[in-house]
Amino acid sequence: MKILLFGSQGQLGQDLLRTFPKDWSVVPLTRTEADLTQADSISSVLERTNPNVVVNCAAYNLVDLAEKDPQAAFATNALGVKALAEQCHTRHILLVQISTDYVFGGEANRQTPYTEQDPPSPIGIYGMSKRMGEIYTQRYCPDHHLIVRTCGLYGLHGAGGKGKNFPKIIFEVATTQDPDRLAKPFQVVTDEMGTPTYCADLAWGIVALLLQKSRGIFHVTNSGSCSRWECAQEICRLAEQSGFPVRYPSKTTQAEYGLAARRPAYAVLSNEKFRQQVGTILPDWKDALARYFAALLAPHKEEK
Ligand SMILES: NC(=O)c1ccc[n+]([C@@H]2O[C@H](COP(=O)([O-])OP(=O)(O)OC[C@H]3O[C@@H](n4cnc5c(N)ncnc54)[C@H](OP(=O)(O)O)[C@@H]3O)[C@@H](O)[C@H]2O)c1
Repeated sequence: MKILLFGSQGQLGQDLLRTFPKDWSVVPLTRTEADLTQADSISSVLERTNPNVVVNCAAYNLVDLAEKDPQAAFATNALGVKALAEQCHTRHILLVQISTDYVFGGEANRQTPYTEQDPPSPIGIYGMSKRMGEIYTQRYCPDHHLIVRTCGLYGLHGAGGKGKNFPKIIFEVATTQDPDRLAKPFQVVTDEMGTPTYCADLAWGIVALLLQKSRGIFHVTNSGSCSRWECAQEICRLAEQSGFPVRYPSKTTQAEYGLAARRPAYAVLSNEKFRQQVGTILPDWKDALARYFAALLAPHKEEK
């Protein structure tokens, strides 16, 4: 198997590079080597490398900025994916497109996990642009695609465009000794339910799907669910357990917090289709967070 990996410098890309079986040939791409907004750069890299699988982890992920600059989000997440899908179809390449729980959210009273059959209903520009990427993948590469929807990613390699992920930010704010930061409120929203997902576990899930020759849409997250506030509480508990002085966050709501983009109040994804395909599901989100912090804090422990 020869894989071309778009977004290889991002947090999921980095964990996929560590997880792909050693006998697979992998070509990791940076944005400089192949920019999804430049159709020419996509066709030339495919021509040069001649893969049989393209895994696209590249995305415009700046959820709040996307509300002010929809063109930038659609250029990468929708039109870039369209160009990739067209090229993959012509060259009989399998396109693995990574997507998001933010394609859901329009059902105000939803309280049961979304399945792959549920109709998407994005409520923000980022979610809309990612949904267009899914539609273009299905339409322009109809016979050879695998769409993997996931949620709340964090990896040892912090998120590319954003620099940090939610667990890292919460850990830093919870354990800071900086008086200026301590003077500011520490609040986390309770009205955003999802499943934080460790990129190392998701990378394992993507490889498992590839080994099963899976096609179509799959939801792949760690198991269980929590609000952002519950996730933050767990991060604080893990930090405290590791000997850090910790302050716990207070509760707030999206409306009070006032970010530019509204997030889905409930975007938990059902992993049942994945379980049927692969025979198991990813570990519980608390188990994953504990392994993440053990790995993240390991160098600090050695320093002490
Ligand atoms: N992060 C989450 O919480 C989350 C949740 C659900 C789904 N997802 C999806 O999961 C996938 C991986 O996310 P991630 O958190 O690993 O992202 P990430 O860390 O932000 O990495 C994204 C990568 O894409 C590259 N990129 C951005 N625009 C590009 C373009 N026009 N052409 C080529 N490369 C480009 C970035 O390069 P630069 O560093 O140069 O910008 C970066 O290396 C994405 O599809 C995302 O939508 C993420």
